[in-house]
Amino acid sequence: MARAIAIHSYKGGTGKTYFVSNFSIIQAMRGKNVALIDFDIGAPSLNYIFEHYIDESKRSNYYLKEFLDKKCSIMEYLTPVRQDIESGIKLKGNLYLGLMNTGRDVFEFFETAGRKWQMNALKVLLKAKKELFEEHNIDYLFFDTSPGIKYWSINAIVCADLVLLLSTLNKADLSGTDNMVSEIYQSLEKENHIILNMVPAAFVEKNKEIEEKIAKIQNKIIGTIPCSCEVQSTLSEYMLILKDEKHPYCVTLKQIADKIEDIMK
Ligand SMILES: Nc1ncnc2c1ncn2[C@@H]1O[C@H](COP(=O)(O)OP(=O)(O)OP(=O)(O)O)[C@@H](O)[C@H]1O
Ligand SMILES: [Mg+2]
Repeated sequence: MARAIAIHSYKGGTGKTYFVSNFSIIQAMRGKNVALIDFDIGAPSLNYIFEHYIDESKRSNYYLKEFLDKKCSIMEYLTPVRQDIESGIKLKGNLYLGLMNTGRDVFEFFETAGRKWQMNALKVLLKAKKELFEEHNIDYLFFDTSPGIKYWSINAIVCADLVLLLSTLNKADLSGTDNMVSEIYQSLEKENHIILNMVPAAFVEKNKEIEEKIAKIQNKIIGTIPCSCEVQSTLSEYMLILKDEKHPYCVTLKQIADKIEDIMK
């Protein structure tokens, strides 16, 4: 069954973009058709991350704002990820990217856009979701969002069927994540799960406060991703799954993919 999933967090820099980029590739490797939309208005990244995996002649002329302003259809907005020998990508399914343009003017527009514009944007998004699932055979629609409570992130969350919240072991991060679950997600009646990221391999330090916070959200946690230097290194950044499928980071992502598939049955 097709599903839309928003990747969100309380704090910034918890690994959302890196996670969803690799996760989308895992799904496409498994034969799923995937659309991944950059909803991080403040700091869009997918255009940089997938820079070498886009055939320029097939790059869409449209960005998120134009799509939400109804200047193009959903398929005109999406850019396919190239799959050829040169790019080194071989996927069983298709992977499409919805890109967001950088620039102060666009950011300011989204920051100041009124409620009416945001409501219309949500309608466009919901219609596109239906079209992608029913007419274009998309199995997973992912939204990479901005951290915290931004209007556009809330739009992506409302449109999603499920939210994955990435948190580090940081005290403020764990508390903020817990609050978002009990306040925002509960009021939106949105199914949500937590993924702990950047967890040190030897989490030996006994910190009662952190342990208590983890215990409080334990029933929501569907994955614990280890912290890894390879993830940080420039060369393998963002496409670790294409370089080393057996890396502990990738193995954990595959386990999370299995769990999500189970949840979505
Ligand atoms: N498991 C991990 N181990 C080590 N480093 C990681 C891990 N996951 C992500 N990172 C690194 O953390 C940094 C932040 O990741 P990323 O940009 O994906 O975070 P983000 O949540 O999307 O940030 P933002 O909130 O600004 O959008 C990147 O350098 C990334 O390579
Ligand atoms: Mg990000």
